[in-house]
Amino acid sequence: MYNKILETANWIRSKMTTSPETAIILGTGLGELASEIDKVTELPYKDIPNFPVSTVEGHTGCLIEGKLGGKDILAMEGRFHYYEGYSMKEVTFPIRVMHELGIKTLFLSNAAGGTNPSFRIGDLMIITDQINNMPENPLRGANIPQGPRFPDMGHAYDPDLIDLADRIAHEKAIKVRHGVYLATQGPTYETPAEYRMFAHWGADAVGMSTVPEVIVARHVGIKCFGVSIITDLGGHAQVMKVTHEDVQKAAAEAQPRMAAIMREMIARS
Ligand code: HPA
Repeated sequence: MYNKILETANWIRSKMTTSPETAIILGTGLGELASEIDKVTELPYKDIPNFPVSTVEGHTGCLIEGKLGGKDILAMEGRFHYYEGYSMKEVTFPIRVMHELGIKTLFLSNAAGGTNPSFRIGDLMIITDQINNMPENPLRGANIPQGPRFPDMGHAYDPDLIDLADRIAHEKAIKVRHGVYLATQGPTYETPAEYRMFAHWGADAVGMSTVPEVIVARHVGIKCFGVSIITDLGGHAQVMKVTHEDVQKAAAEAQPRMAAIMREMIARS
């Protein structure tokens, strides 16, 4: 496993001209930020040795080296989801490669269903903590010597980055919410009973990604910042039907606000 990580990192490094310390993972319908990147190199996942290939509609699957907010960055346009059939090791493989490439800070975005009754469709939720409700922990198995066997998860999402996001949102008059993100394996959206249960557990939003990536990022000491776009609402008195199209539409509408915050955070951090 570790040899594969090194092989992939070395291959990517041989194609790169910069040494970014910041990476971004763009989730469902959130690829627009990628269009703002001054691209230096674009590597389709299918060309990268040992990389899984993204299969879901709306995920193009490309690793981008470029500049955003005046900083060198690496961006994953499209991510690997557990529900696609990948193992947890495959889902989080790019994070391990990022660590070998020298990434210190990771920005993640996703689309999520709001379980907090005060949330509205289109809200931006800064993720303050997470609940791993996926069937497996990506660190299960022999410990990869990039990090400790039993990693601390007290600050899964970096408090200083959350403060910075709050300041920037305030300056730009962009309304943000704070909340806990819970990940399920998907691919089903939740039943009304499941949405209510997750709300009782302390989740404010629920989605199908991010948590494994953050666990592995913390294992290797990468600082994380995450934003969920609330694309639908569950656990309310009124049962709402959720479709992938609705999720993509709500994400598209909200993503300029998310991009504005992330761009400025990258410029200042
Ligand atoms: N549940 C799970 N994943 C999601 C949702 C949801 O309601 N919305 C967008 N991704």
